[in-house]
This record gives sequence, C-alpha cells and structure tokens, in this order.
Amino acid sequence: MSETLRRPAEAIYAGELAALAAGDGDRRPPGWALSPRAVVTYLMGGAAADGTAISEKYVGDRRLIETAVATLATDRALLLLGVPGTAKSWVSEHLAAAITGDSTLVIQCTAGTDENQVRYGWNYAQLLARGPSREALVPTPLMRAMEGGKLCRLEELTRMGSDVQDTLITVLSEKMMPIPELNSAVYAQRGFNIIATANNRDKGVNELSSALKRRFNVVVLPLPDSAEEEVAIIVKRVGEMAQSLDLPAPKNVAEEVARVVAIFRELRSGSTEDGKVALKSPSGGLSTAEAIGVMVGGISQATFFNDGRLTPETLASNMIGAVVKDPVQDKAVLGEYLETVLKKRRGFEGYYAALTDQI
Ligand SMILES: Nc1ncnc2c1ncn2[C@@H]1O[C@H](COP(=O)(O)OP(=O)(O)OP(=O)(O)O)[C@@H](O)[C@H]1O
Ligand SMILES: [Mg+2]
Repeated sequence: MSETLRRPAEAIYAGELAALAAGDGDRRPPGWALSPRAVVTYLMGGAAADGTAISEKYVGDRRLIETAVATLATDRALLLLGVPGTAKSWVSEHLAAAITGDSTLVIQCTAGTDENQVRYGWNYAQLLARGPSREALVPTPLMRAMEGGKLCRLEELTRMGSDVQDTLITVLSEKMMPIPELNSAVYAQRGFNIIATANNRDKGVNELSSALKRRFNVVVLPLPDSAEEEVAIIVKRVGEMAQSLDLPAPKNVAEEVARVVAIFRELRSGSTEDGKVALKSPSGGLSTAEAIGVMVGGISQATFFNDGRLTPETLASNMIGAVVKDPVQDKAVLGEYLETVLKKRRGFEGYYAALTDQI
C-alpha cells in the first residue's frame, strides 16, 4: 500500500477547518472559506463553536497573525519576512489552507525562475501543431490561483531576478494578467491574493523594486523571545514530527530540548545567557528549525542505534552538523565555546564530553 509522505495542511487539519467553518457566524471576505477571526483561531489555536479543539499552529504574537490575515482581505499582498527557520513557509501554508482551502498553489522562486514559470508557459507540441490557443497554454500556480480565486504562495520571492519579480506588478495592481499571444487576458476572481516569503539573511538575493514593495504589506516573523517559548515550539513540533515518522518519542525529549536550545541560543546571540562572556557566533543561522532538525535526527538515531535512549552522544553529531557549516571557522567557534563555557557548566557534562569527542 502506498502512503503520501506529507499531506497538505488542509488535508491534515480537515476536521478542524470543517468545525471552524460550521460554527463561523462572522462576515467572510468574498471568496474566503472562513472569516478572518476563524482563520486566526485556526493558526493560534483555541476551540471551534461546537467545542472541537483547534491545535496551535503558530506559537508567537497573535497580532502578527491578525495583521497578516487582515492584509490578505485587502488588495495588498502579504510578504512574510524573517531569518531562516522562523516559520514563514509554515504560516504561509496554513494561511492558504484556512483562507481558500488550498495550500498547494506554490511557486518556488530561484535565480533560474523565468517569466514562463510565473505567468504561463506553452505546450510546444500543441503550439506547433495548432498555433497559439488556450489549450496550448500551460497555466502556472499563479494563473490557476487567479482563475480560481485562491491564494498563490511564492516561496523565497527575493531569490528570483528583479525583472521577473516585476511581472507581479500588473497582477497585483490590475488584478489581471494579459496574454498578448491570444489577444486576451486572465482576470483574477475574488479571493485571489499572494503570500510571499523571503528571508533577510541569505546572500545573493534581489531586493524588491519599490514599485513592487509598495504592493506588499510586510510582516516580520521574529525568532522566539524567550528560551521557554522556543523550547515549547520545539517540543511540540518534534512530538508531531516523530509521530508522523512513526518514531517513539523518548521520555527525556523536553529536558534535552532545553539543553540544546540553551546552547544554540548562546551561540546564536554571541554571549552567554547571563551576559558575562562574549562568544563568537557560527556562520549558520541556528534557528528554531535547526534545533527541531537536530532533535528529530537524534530521536531517529536513538531509535535505531541506541535502544531508544536519547543521550548527548546521539544528539552531538546532529548538533555539530547544525553548528559547523564552515569546517574551519565554525569548528573553532564551537571548540572555543566548549572550553570557555560548557566545560564548567553543571548539567552539561554529557554534552561537553560528546561534542568534544565528536567535533
Ligand atoms: N513560532 C513558531 N511556531 C510554530 N512553529 C515554528 C515556529 N518557529 C519555527 N517553527 C517550526 O520551524 C519549522 C521550519 O519552519 P519554516 O520552514 O516555515 O521556516 P522558514 O521561515 O520558511 O525558513 P526558510 O527561510 O529557511 O525557508 C516548521 O516545522 C515550523 O513548525
Ligand atoms: Mg521557507
């Protein structure tokens, strides 16, 4: 029997979405499956009118999500900005799932993305046989979102060239896409909008032109404020991911997450928690998402090679993989941290030994 590895959010949370829709008495913007208030409840968690529990998808400031949802109800598009691993793609998927019931209209923008992947392409066999016609035209996710009144997700918008980005200007300001070859145009149905994500740390990005910037409302997703908040996010997501991978979650997950987060936060911020020792930061981001990856990797290793026991040894190689992105510089940064900080810290003896041993 074959099984999908990962289903879209609207399929996984179909029950929650249906319960919210059933008890949703608020006004819905045209083309929306839920009211803005219900969309925020879907993202932040709570309960539907019939008592169905709604799980928390985004952990953080409710007002950010309210701003994002309110933006999508206007004629401006939404740009989620932030360092890597701050749940931009995650929030974008859930917003699309809740608002239009379809999170799959995605364009992954890269330096090689051209206009045909944003606007429309052609089926060349058809084009040669019959000339330009609507049948020969290959719609992109953007075009399908316009025709269906859905949300189109543009991942990593700033990675594609500025000239290609600018093809969005007509779409966003006129809500239509001309097709000069057919002497016609596609008009967006109500409900259509764009959610773009971009991270402000990557090199080689193309700044948005000011004409395009003006058509987006920017919501910045921050790194979690406190260690407790970050630990809570990671424990929750690791639990969900371990379950979907059929990995049994060891009992001490939360304790180890707290230690890994303590180490990552210090390295990321460039000083110890008490602010007394200045540290060098590694070149990688060490985001919440990296910590989630470290824990899931560690749990897999514990399950298959360590009788299910999650120990500093099983986590160390995953941690080194996350910290050491540059084999020379980052190794030195981690080595210095181990000797100046971790060596003397109570409760971290296992990590000091395992990391020193494996680095
Ligand atoms: N505040 C948060 N609330 C809930 N989940 C979070 C939060 N921060 C990070 N995560 C989790 O981190 C993981 C990675 O997030 P995601 O891939 O959306 O990051 P991103 O911001 O798109 O990063 P990138 O810039 O690398 O694409 C997801 O599994 C998400 O659940
Ligand atoms: Mg992303």
